[in-house]
Amino acid sequence: MREVGFVVGRTSTKWVTVRLEEEVLINDLVLVGDELLGVVRGVSYANPTMSPYSPFTPTNVEAVRAYEYLNASVELYGSLVSGRFDPRVLTATPTGTPVYKVEKGDLENLRFIEDPIFIGEHPSSGWPLPLDPRAVDYHIAVVGSTGSGKSHLVRILVRELVKVGRKVVIFDHTGADYAPFFKEETVPDTDVFPDMLSLAEVMANKVLGKEYLDDVEVALYAYLYSEGDVGKAREFMESLGFGNGQFDMSTILELRDKSPMGIGWDDESFIAILRLVMGYLKRREHTVAKSLFRLVKSGISLGSFNGRRYGIDDLVDLILNRDLTVLDISSETLPIRYGIMRGVVSGLMERAERSGERLDVAIVVDEAQVYARGQPPTEALSDVARRGRKWGIGLILVSQRWVSDLDMNIRANINSVVFSSLQSSSDLEDIGKVVSLGSIDIGVLGTGDFYITGLLSPFRRPILVHTFGEYHE
Ligand SMILES: Nc1ncnc2c1ncn2[C@@H]1O[C@H](COP(=O)(O)OP(=O)(O)OP(=O)(O)O)[C@@H](O)[C@H]1O
Ligand SMILES: [Mg+2]
Repeated sequence: MREVGFVVGRTSTKWVTVRLEEEVLINDLVLVGDELLGVVRGVSYANPTMSPYSPFTPTNVEAVRAYEYLNASVELYGSLVSGRFDPRVLTATPTGTPVYKVEKGDLENLRFIEDPIFIGEHPSSGWPLPLDPRAVDYHIAVVGSTGSGKSHLVRILVRELVKVGRKVVIFDHTGADYAPFFKEETVPDTDVFPDMLSLAEVMANKVLGKEYLDDVEVALYAYLYSEGDVGKAREFMESLGFGNGQFDMSTILELRDKSPMGIGWDDESFIAILRLVMGYLKRREHTVAKSLFRLVKSGISLGSFNGRRYGIDDLVDLILNRDLTVLDISSETLPIRYGIMRGVVSGLMERAERSGERLDVAIVVDEAQVYARGQPPTEALSDVARRGRKWGIGLILVSQRWVSDLDMNIRANINSVVFSSLQSSSDLEDIGKVVSLGSIDIGVLGTGDFYITGLLSPFRRPILVHTFGEYHE
C-alpha cells in the first residue's frame, strides 16, 4: 500500500475528493483511512491562478504552475472491519484523512465472500477478484462487442462453477467456442433425437409451408403408431374418428408410452403416410402432390435420425449426472436446435418441480441473440429467469447486445451483468435499470476487460476485472 494523497473538500458517505501527491488512474482501488475501500472514478487538474474566469493573464506560465494541483474523485464501496468487507459506509470521512493506493497482495487475506470463485484480476492492483458463485441462481448476462473475450470469460467461469459443485450445461451455437475445449464432455446434436414437434416444424417451416404443420405432426404420430405400416396408419386415423371411423381412446393412450427412438424411420413409408393423412385432412389433390414433391426434393431424411443415442429426456439425465455437459448444436437445422434447447430447458424445470429438490445447475447460452428473444426457446428461458431460482436453476446468457438480443422478461430478472465495450450506448443505460452502474467509463476497455456488477460483484457495484489469460486450477 502506498500513500497517494489526503481527503479534501466536502465529503459524503458515497464520494470523497482526494488531493493527490502521487498519480492514480481511473479504476484504481484506494483505501481511505484504515477502513474505507473506494474506486477512483475521475482525476482532474485545477489551478486557481489559471481559472477561466480570472481577469489576470499570467505572464510566466512556468511560475504559476506551482499552484497547480491534482484531485481524484473516489467512489466509496464499503468498509473493511476486522478483516471483513461490509458494503456499507455509515459515516463521512474527515478531511485530511490519508489515502492509499491498493497494491498487489494488500487485499488477499481479507474476507469479501464465503467460498469465492475467480475469473480474473483487478488490473492495477493485480487482486484476484473474489466473486459470489451463488449469484448464478439469480441469472447472469455477459455482454460486449465481438472479440471482447466473452466466450473466453465464460469458459473460465464454468470451470470455476464446476469446482464449487455446480452442474453446468452449455449450448454451443458455433461448435467452436466450447466443444473443442471440453471434448470429453461434448454431445453433438447429431447424436440427439429431437422431439416430434421440432421435427414437424423443420418439415413444415423449411419445406411445405407453415400452414401444413398440423398435417406433418399428425403424420408423425401416425407413423409412430404404425411404425411405418400404411395399413396400421389408416387404422390409427380411423380410430381418431376420421373417415368412417369411430373414436377409440385406446389408440391415443397407446401412443403415450411409445418412444420415437424405439422404432425405425423410413422416408418412403413416411411419405406414403403423409399422403394418407393429408387425404383424411381433406387437403386438395394438387396441394398433396406439391407437398410430397417438395418433401422428396428437400433432402430432409427421417432415416438420418435412426440410431441416435439420446432423446431429450436422456439429455436431462446426462446433465444432472455429470459436472459439465456441452451440447454442440452447430450441425442441425435451426428448428431442431430450438427444439433441443426448448426441450432440455423446460425438461430441467419439470424435473425439479417433480422432485421438489434444487438441481444446482447453470444453463449457459452463448450467442443468445439466436435463442433468447422471439424464438421458440425464449419462453422456456423466460420461465427459468422468472422461477428458476427456487430450484437452483440459473441462466448465463452471452451476447453482443443487451436490449435487442434478450427478451424483456429475461432482462428484468437478471441480477448480475458482466459487460465490456458495447455497440450501443443505450444498452448501458438500460443495464442500469437492473443493476447498479455508478459512474463508470467503458470507452477504454480492451480484450478481456469487463466490468462486473450486481450480485456477482463483491461490492454489488461495478468493478473492473481483466480475465485470466490462461486458466490455472
Ligand atoms: N484475458 C485474455 N487474455 C488473452 N486473450 C484473450 C483474453 N480474453 C479473450 N482473449 C482472446 O480474444 C479472442 C476473442 O475472444 P472471444 O472469442 O472470447 O470473444 P467473444 O467476445 O466471445 O467474441 P464473439 O462475440 O465474436 O463471440 C480469442 O482469441 C481469445 O482467446
Ligand atoms: Mg463468443
